[in-house]
Amino acid sequence: MSRVISISNHKGGVGKTTSVVNIGAGLAYKGRKVLLIDLDPQANLTISFGVSESEHSVYDAFTNGQNLKPVNIRKNLDMIPASAELAAAEIELNTETNQESNIANLIKPIRNDYDYIIIDCPPSLGLLTLNAFAASDEVIIPIQPHFLAVKGLAKIIEVVNGIKTSINRKVEISGVFVVMYDRRKILHQDVLDTVIMYFDDRVFKTKIRENIALAEAPAAGQDIFEYAPESNGAFDYGRIVLEIIAMEEKIGNKSE
Ligand SMILES: Nc1ncnc2c1ncn2[C@@H]1O[C@H](COP(=O)(O)OP(=O)(O)O)[C@@H](O)[C@H]1O
Ligand SMILES: [Mg+2]
Repeated sequence: MSRVISISNHKGGVGKTTSVVNIGAGLAYKGRKVLLIDLDPQANLTISFGVSESEHSVYDAFTNGQNLKPVNIRKNLDMIPASAELAAAEIELNTETNQESNIANLIKPIRNDYDYIIIDCPPSLGLLTLNAFAASDEVIIPIQPHFLAVKGLAKIIEVVNGIKTSINRKVEISGVFVVMYDRRKILHQDVLDTVIMYFDDRVFKTKIRENIALAEAPAAGQDIFEYAPESNGAFDYGRIVLEIIAMEEKIGNKSE
């Protein structure tokens, strides 16, 4: 079994990269072989692990027709870094045919080396994100409990469905989770109810609380489990990881 998962939300600053770092690290600690792909020209994922932007970036593979060359970060955890040049790829790809299939084609030869390939998407629904969806089995969406954030969900559903009916019939929104949640706030509870109305049992039971340690850890080049193992952030992401692992059984049954 291998799962290719895009972590996506076209709004910026909602915790995509933080989630990719800590879900990726958490899965690796649980013995899964994980590849993280940084598909955001801002390269925040790359920087969070202290990887140099220039080493075998996803842009090199895009433009030179090279294979992806994962950089090993630690046991069970590899990465394909991004670089600022990736912004140019979005424009260059525009002129190609099959412009949404590039990442899918690059992943194919290495897919079976991993249990999980997790793609950190840029904050847009442009060509890079379409490439991510075309390459993915699953899209998982972190959402902040704001009224307008819920409105944005309709757009992302539409885009995933567009890819599903054209180039990748496998892709599904497999999960949604709320980040920076405060259960004392009525608005947050209301938004959660609305998200459950849209996504039903695909909403993760775990909510990620606001936790300063999650914001501090990247400066130390660490994930939350190393940086602050007793923090709420480590507890919450640890539980999300278990929920993601629990989905494996269902997926295994489906592919049999
Ligand atoms: N649960 C959280 N609690 C506190 N700060 C957070 C949390 N999740 C993310 N952050 C911080 O919020 C900012 C945006 O998060 P980030 O993961 O970079 O979002 P995105 O990738 O969606 O743009 C970062 O500074 C990050 O450290
Ligand atoms: Mg990001």
